[in-house]
Amino acid sequence: MPRIGEAAPAFEAITTQGHIHFPGDYAGNWVILFSHPADFTPVCTSEFMAFATLESKFLAANTKLVGLSVDGLYSHIAWLRTIKEKIDYKGMKNVEVKFPLIEDITMEVATKYGMMMPGESNTKAVRAVFVIDPKGIIRTIIYYPLSLGRNFDELYRVVIALQTADAFSIATPADWQPGDDVIVPTAGSCGVAKERMESTDPDTTCHDWFFCTKKLDKETVLNKIIQK
Ligand code: BEZ
Repeated sequence: MPRIGEAAPAFEAITTQGHIHFPGDYAGNWVILFSHPADFTPVCTSEFMAFATLESKFLAANTKLVGLSVDGLYSHIAWLRTIKEKIDYKGMKNVEVKFPLIEDITMEVATKYGMMMPGESNTKAVRAVFVIDPKGIIRTIIYYPLSLGRNFDELYRVVIALQTADAFSIATPADWQPGDDVIVPTAGSCGVAKERMESTDPDTTCHDWFFCTKKLDKETVLNKIIQK
């Protein structure tokens, strides 16, 4: 089962957008590889409509989306066509899913990525999310059960927070959003910690020796991360 900090397992697959080599085809991009339990099911339909509607926002953050279920290609094609032609849900209609959806009838990829959880279902993948960085390293893994639709604003927050952590060498506190204070990495030695506690930098606040935050304004974050 893949773990955070490890290379994303490689595979080749047929998708609704053609053949892909993963993660090689995505080198240089962030990518969210996610599974859903089954085509033509309601929670999955709501998720695909939400994700497709937000796709341009993810692309602007250099992040591509790749879906997967253990259904076949023709089922995927028919389902995505039905979504586009028939479903009007929460103000979303004529929604075209442009990102690739992998067919995995052999469950090979789902098994490789630990998306099959027999306690939940023997025949369907759970709702897994793998956030993979431009070097092909898994940076975040999130799992949801069959009955629970994902929060796509949260997945966007995860991508922005990871990219911000990399770009500014900081960490992000609970519920962080761009514009909120960020966490200065823990000092390596007592001397450095003491120096930082006594810092007169008006942008840094130390709550204790192990917990210092600093300002990082929203524009600075978004200018670095969002492509215009
Ligand atoms: C759904 O997407 O609605 C769903 C899929 C599989 C099991 C239960 C619900």
